[in-house]
Amino acid sequence: MKRIIYISTVNRQLSEEEIESIGQISARNNRGVGITGVLISVHDYFFQVLEGEEEAIAQVIGRIRRDPRHKDMHILKAENEISERLFPKWSMRTIRLAGSGDMILQAIRDMLQNIAQSHRIIERYTQPSVLKFLTDGINPLSVPPRKTDKIVLFCDMVGFSYLSDLFPVEQVAEVVNAFLEVCSTTIAEHGGVVAKYVGDCAIAYFEQNQADESIAACLDVLRRVGDMRRDTHECHLMKFLYCGFGVAAGTVIEGNFGSSVKMDFTVLGGTVNMAARLEALTRQIAKPLALSESVIENARQNWSFVHVGDFQLKGAGKPCPVYTLDDPLMNDFKDHEHLVDEMRQACGEKCEGTMFG
Ligand SMILES: Cc1cc2nc3c(=O)[nH]c(=O)nc-3n(C[C@H](O)[C@H](O)[C@H](O)COP(=O)(O)O)c2cc1C
Repeated sequence: MKRIIYISTVNRQLSEEEIESIGQISARNNRGVGITGVLISVHDYFFQVLEGEEEAIAQVIGRIRRDPRHKDMHILKAENEISERLFPKWSMRTIRLAGSGDMILQAIRDMLQNIAQSHRIIERYTQPSVLKFLTDGINPLSVPPRKTDKIVLFCDMVGFSYLSDLFPVEQVAEVVNAFLEVCSTTIAEHGGVVAKYVGDCAIAYFEQNQADESIAACLDVLRRVGDMRRDTHECHLMKFLYCGFGVAAGTVIEGNFGSSVKMDFTVLGGTVNMAARLEALTRQIAKPLALSESVIENARQNWSFVHVGDFQLKGAGKPCPVYTLDDPLMNDFKDHEHLVDEMRQACGEKCEGTMFG
């Protein structure tokens, strides 16, 4: 059996009849599939415990998630293989706070509000893969390391350290956040997982059969970054946002790596190093995308790959063939020197007396 405890917030003010109807439907449905638990409606929050067979819980949770009457569902706890029910019956309690002078109820509402807020914050700092384990009822710390095949992607901004010293700190923060937002949402849209950020660099991975998706994600990020540059006025750091991608496919070790103070669920190994080296190589080949031969071999779509040369990458025994694409987006790249020239031209005169004067 499985037990799930979650908290959510109403999407709009619900009438007493609506809340009552949720209770009635839940009671009827849950009885039919052997689910017990409790649903508490406190002002604008719901707190629910559901216990039952795994399959039945998965179905009900799926329906509850899609219910437009509430949002921001945070799973507080998920436990698999429980042997005993904490709530052998199904019950629901609605606590109305409007006009209630009851300090205890007020305290319960504040507590739910605080839990929801803390979870919203913690979820944004937590890796999606770790969250997934938690909501599936798996303790991520108990997941053993394993060797697996992945496609690893490194992506970062060109000349970031140099540029970050020249522009106001607010612009630096704005551009790094905008860049990581575009990388992360685009990679997720294509089915990849962002493992972590290291400064302005995003490290992500895809499954071995997702070579095409990983390449498509790089092209989409380049397109979106190009749009961001075009939509920016001349003397803003965003105008000089260019990025490079290194993508490699192969075996990695996936697991928990870290210390008693901080833990990462991430990937390590030669393929990860290779992706990092390829990303650095984009500066040398003056193209925003450098792919390993293994990515080409895994791709199924008819991409126009171009062999840019064989390079001795640190950590590799022999020179590695490196590829890019024959695509207009591959011209969307400035190496450090050209970027600095362009910036001085664009900003130097207009911003005289500033850091470019
Ligand atoms: C906070 C909240 C909790 C709910 N809990 C349950 C529940 O425990 N069981 C259930 O069947 N439906 C529950 N619902 C309702 C479902 O989202 C969905 O409307 C309902 O299951 C559809 O049932 P029907 O197909 O029988 O109309 C809940 C809805 C909300 C907003």
